[in-house]
Amino acid sequence: MIELENVSKAYDGQEALSNISLRVERGEMAFITGPSGAGKSTLFKLLYLAEKPDNGTITIAGHNAARLNSTSIPLLRRNIGVVFQDFKLLNNKTVYDNIALTLRIRGYVEKDVKERVHSVLKMVSLRHKADNYPLTLSGGEQQRVTIARSIIGEPTVMLADEPTGNLDEENEKEIMKIFKQINTKGTTVLIATHNRALFENTARRVFFLDGGKLKGEEQ
Ligand SMILES: Nc1ncnc2c1ncn2[C@@H]1O[C@H](COP(=O)(O)OP(=O)(O)O)[C@@H](O)[C@H]1O
Ligand SMILES: [Mg+2]
Repeated sequence: MIELENVSKAYDGQEALSNISLRVERGEMAFITGPSGAGKSTLFKLLYLAEKPDNGTITIAGHNAARLNSTSIPLLRRNIGVVFQDFKLLNNKTVYDNIALTLRIRGYVEKDVKERVHSVLKMVSLRHKADNYPLTLSGGEQQRVTIARSIIGEPTVMLADEPTGNLDEENEKEIMKIFKQINTKGTTVLIATHNRALFENTARRVFFLDGGKLKGEEQ
């Protein structure tokens, strides 16, 4: 579950988010849309604890984000998978090693790492690319690696900020299919996008942001 209550955030005295309250239920898949500069990415930065709100409370994956101390932030982050528009993969590591990293940091034995990396690679249809380096893959494939990396730790919440921003329509559809699958398995999914095609005819809830203000919900 994700909940914001009266959340505001300003940069240099300019409000990027103004008194936002919204709630995404556990297991829901929902969207945030609005024009460029509306505050979508700022909202996501607050949710994955890269920034702190000036006012208001944020609950995510069962924790009050504002009350967290520096030792519990990494623990909460384990429950949040993030996907960005630019893939942020390590280009000097193979697809396999990019995805395995999270589990290795957590001290998993290599046998378990292997099993899980193969399982998520299968989910994104990239088992045959395990030994490739990211820059030898297409944009759509790189984004699928990012998604595999973000789900390997089995997060309860998945945040995707313009996940299809650099992709063509066919790859866009493929990526959305994967998010739907992730959601079907029980993960709460929140996607920020300026692209209406991602949520039109999905019957999912859509929060509309403009100028840092929530202008309501569509659908
Ligand atoms: N780190 C920052 N420093 C100063 N201003 C920022 C920063 N991040 C975002 N902003 C401003 O906040 C507003 C919202 O930006 P953003 O959240 O990136 O919008 P969106 O993702 O909807 O395009 C914009 O006016 C942007 O210039
Ligand atoms: Mg943005």
